[in-house]
Amino acid sequence: MFCRHYELGLDGADSAFSVDASNLTFGAGCLLEAGDVARGLGISRIALFTDRTLAKTVHVAVVRDSLRAAGVDVALYDAVRVEPTDASFQAATTFAVDAGVDGFISVGGGSVIDTAKAANLYSSHPADFLAYVNAPIGHGAPVPGPLRPHIACPTTSGTGSECTGIAVFDLLEMKAKTGIASKMIRPTRALVDPDCTLTLPANVVASSAFDVLSHALESYTARPYNRRPAPSRPSVRPASQGANPWSDLGCAEALRLIGRFLERGVADAADVEARHQLMWASTLAGIAFGNAGCHAPHGMSYSVSGLVRDFLPDGYPSDQPMVPHGMSVIVNSPSVFRHTGTNSPDRHRDGAEWLGADVADLGDAESGEVLADQVVRLMKSTGMPNGLEGVGYGAEDIAGLVEGALPQRRLLDNAPIEIDRQILTSLYEGALRYW
Ligand SMILES: NC(=O)c1ccc[n+]([C@@H]2O[C@H](COP(=O)([O-])OP(=O)(O)OC[C@H]3O[C@@H](n4cnc5c(N)ncnc54)[C@H](O)[C@@H]3O)[C@@H](O)[C@H]2O)c1
Ligand SMILES: [Fe+2]
Repeated sequence: MFCRHYELGLDGADSAFSVDASNLTFGAGCLLEAGDVARGLGISRIALFTDRTLAKTVHVAVVRDSLRAAGVDVALYDAVRVEPTDASFQAATTFAVDAGVDGFISVGGGSVIDTAKAANLYSSHPADFLAYVNAPIGHGAPVPGPLRPHIACPTTSGTGSECTGIAVFDLLEMKAKTGIASKMIRPTRALVDPDCTLTLPANVVASSAFDVLSHALESYTARPYNRRPAPSRPSVRPASQGANPWSDLGCAEALRLIGRFLERGVADAADVEARHQLMWASTLAGIAFGNAGCHAPHGMSYSVSGLVRDFLPDGYPSDQPMVPHGMSVIVNSPSVFRHTGTNSPDRHRDGAEWLGADVADLGDAESGEVLADQVVRLMKSTGMPNGLEGVGYGAEDIAGLVEGALPQRRLLDNAPIEIDRQILTSLYEGALRYW
């Protein structure tokens, strides 16, 4: 089934895909291995990155104690900003330079892991801040060489940042999110301990699981790798290479797990099986989208979070309005999948089935609609916002949302359809409310 999708390559398109396997350890209690892993990587003084909430948890204590017991000197940085910005990335870089470390360990969600990636990059290869930021917002300069070792320990079942070469932040003066994308910034190792999820607030479980769901659906329905123009030389083949038979494997299993365990994991913090399985889904989807790339729902999410006015979600720090990443993505996803359904009906039908919809007798014309309806059903049952209106936007904001999304070419060009201003406008219109 998987390979048939790739039979129709295009002239001048790429004819091969690359697998950059992530180097990770998964299992309850594996945070205890931090000291041994750091020593194995030759680290003697390490920057331990986390945020203020996590700094008080057992997860950070376990990692710090394990490092110290292994004889590794620890410099703690707990000032990571949840939903980081260019300013917070730069503050973290200053810390890394002053601390004189020879390695990094991040204990936290995507905000913490991405901040450690950026601090590692700019302290290893100093440059003007916009140098490595994705074009056209930044200059997209290649990272000149290897970074210091970075061990990533995710504590949310969401971003998969431990498996990717991406660091996302808010560029404050543009009020838009953007990122840095390079295989060089992918963490050296990941320790994925699913017990970390047992302390997560329900709303963070839900938001981050919808991030996973959309990573998997977007990677699975992305433009196939053999319909993307061939790279000028193999070494510049992008990580966002499009759907491919390897990423399909992770997407399929991640979606089955989300379909089975999402509602249980949100409803009950004591449901260890559900929370552990959501962490495995997050890891699988991270591996998949790290090799395939997301598309329109993520591209559209960057202005949804960047232009936030006064949305203050439960379970997140209340000192600043924010649209958490998973929510900023999922409010767009049903509208996008309704639109892309006819492009690859089989794939939209697969997604709907894996998420628990009844797809018996489903015709090609309806598969996008049925997938979107199933995502909306799950959003409703887990307390997600009702589309863009649920996070504070109205029809009058659509022009601004479109303006913020248009520069996200890395993501928009990975979509299975051409995305221009007119299509983006209708996708946001379709995302205003779902029920
Ligand atoms: N690099 C990538 O590949 C990638 C992919 C997707 C998203 N992102 C980025 O990641 C960020 C979002 O990350 P996230 O969704 O993982 O959440 P997060 O890191 O923003 O954390 C959300 C909240 O949960 C708290 N928290 C985290 N783990 C906890 C735990 N185990 N127990 C109790 N509280 C806990 C944090 O303190 C914070 O208040 C966004 O900036 C997003 O753009 C990056
Ligand atoms: Fe994401």
